[in-house]
Amino acid sequence: MTEFDLVIKGGSVATTDGVTSMDIAVHGGVITALGQNLPRGLRTIEAAGKLVLPGGVDAHCHIQQLSGGGLMNADTFETATRSAAFGGTTTVISFAAQHRGDRLQDVVENYSRVAAAGAVTDYAFHLWISDPTPEALEHDLPRLIESGHRSIKIFMTYDRVRLLDEQMLDVMMVARKYGALVCAHAENHGMIKWMADRLVSRGYIEPKYHGVSHPRVCEIEAFERLIRFSQLLDQPIMLFHVSTAEGAAVIRRARGEGIKVFAETCPQYLFLTAQDLDRPGLEGAKWMCSPPPRSTADQEALWRALELGDLQVVSSDHAPYRFDSSGKLAAGPEADFKQIANGLPGLETRLPLLFDAMVSQGRSSLEKFVELTATAPAKIYGLHPRKGAIAIGADADIAIWNPDREVTLTDDGLHDNVGYNPFAGRTLRGWPETVLRRGDIIIADGKLQAAPGSGQLQLRGCAASMRPAGKLSPEFDPATNFGAQLL
Ligand code: URP
Ligand code: ZN
Ligand code: ZN
Repeated sequence: MTEFDLVIKGGSVATTDGVTSMDIAVHGGVITALGQNLPRGLRTIEAAGKLVLPGGVDAHCHIQQLSGGGLMNADTFETATRSAAFGGTTTVISFAAQHRGDRLQDVVENYSRVAAAGAVTDYAFHLWISDPTPEALEHDLPRLIESGHRSIKIFMTYDRVRLLDEQMLDVMMVARKYGALVCAHAENHGMIKWMADRLVSRGYIEPKYHGVSHPRVCEIEAFERLIRFSQLLDQPIMLFHVSTAEGAAVIRRARGEGIKVFAETCPQYLFLTAQDLDRPGLEGAKWMCSPPPRSTADQEALWRALELGDLQVVSSDHAPYRFDSSGKLAAGPEADFKQIANGLPGLETRLPLLFDAMVSQGRSSLEKFVELTATAPAKIYGLHPRKGAIAIGADADIAIWNPDREVTLTDDGLHDNVGYNPFAGRTLRGWPETVLRRGDIIIADGKLQAAPGSGQLQLRGCAASMRPAGKLSPEFDPATNFGAQLL
């Protein structure tokens, strides 16, 4: 009998279905046996007293990328995925970001090259479209979707990257035809711009006014608009970073109408509020992201929406900028909030923050934690069952957690290249101590054991989440003024 490469013995193995004490055997990078009293392998990890979970899947992070505002992120694929791995995440989906004038297929080639050289976790790309030219829509996008890049990112705001309504519909049509999920940064551009200009012209320039310039209705209006586009074309969408109670309610109603809308939120909307931006000088810029953190009532509504399944995923929206002249302070010490890059680091803290709240503090269950942070994103983005699962045949992407370890977050304790931690000062219980990626131990004893470039690109098939709900009438439908024959 072939000896297993690795056996994890005696841990409590958690999946979305339950928690079971069992051994896991790994051979050739995949899980090949699950059961009691498996023989020891060439390597054996003793996991008694530990929790053995699927490695996290972070489906929204900005890595080595020019932002919507035109500034380069602080993290490379090496530093971002190193940070992800220390936090128990083994697969990331970042952006191949097309800016206007870029050829989409060149963009994907360039990102593939830098990721292949640097990544230590596995990775996939969302195709970020800001220039939907005929060449992009008719040639590059279909080809890229069919080759396994099965998700698209569109922006409804940010001057340099936003699409007009009719351009969004064009992109959604292509996604529908070739089978891809359309993900959106959905906020009303006009309202934000109008508010921000008025605030600054009246001298309200501190970071806290960033929050004021993104009224709650920006999110509600944009969600509603994009949901109706989705309804018109019967094209599935994913609404990124839901921040308000009303936004979650709009999604709940749309799902009740049978519209195929998925949604994520992020730790910044579950753990931070608008108050965090209210600090002396420019300090509050460290907590500036779009949409902005809201209120404790919104936090509660988002937790409830996650528990009910109205929102299915928690991603980091890791958007890293240093608090210096290369990042948040690029426009100088007198900058107004409009000149400050949006985004927070979060790849490393996403899982520990959620584990502490959901499992250690008992807000939810371990099974739900696994679902929101690994299994659901893997399914929705077409990575399952290779990723996000502990099952025979799945990649051995595994995080072994010490549920009792307490860690106090500090500004210099992370492994990214950002230099601050927006959650510094919090003490969390539960930490991923050993992390495996395709069977290789990449984190152990507080050290990275993977070489830059050892992460692999994950091409994806057309998952159920990417297919139309089948609601569109084949004929012209007077009720909707539309029909599949118009596609
Ligand atoms: O503030 C954020 N979220 N920055 C990153 C860019 C985006 O909005 O996705
Ligand atoms: Zn966004
Ligand atoms: Zn983002």
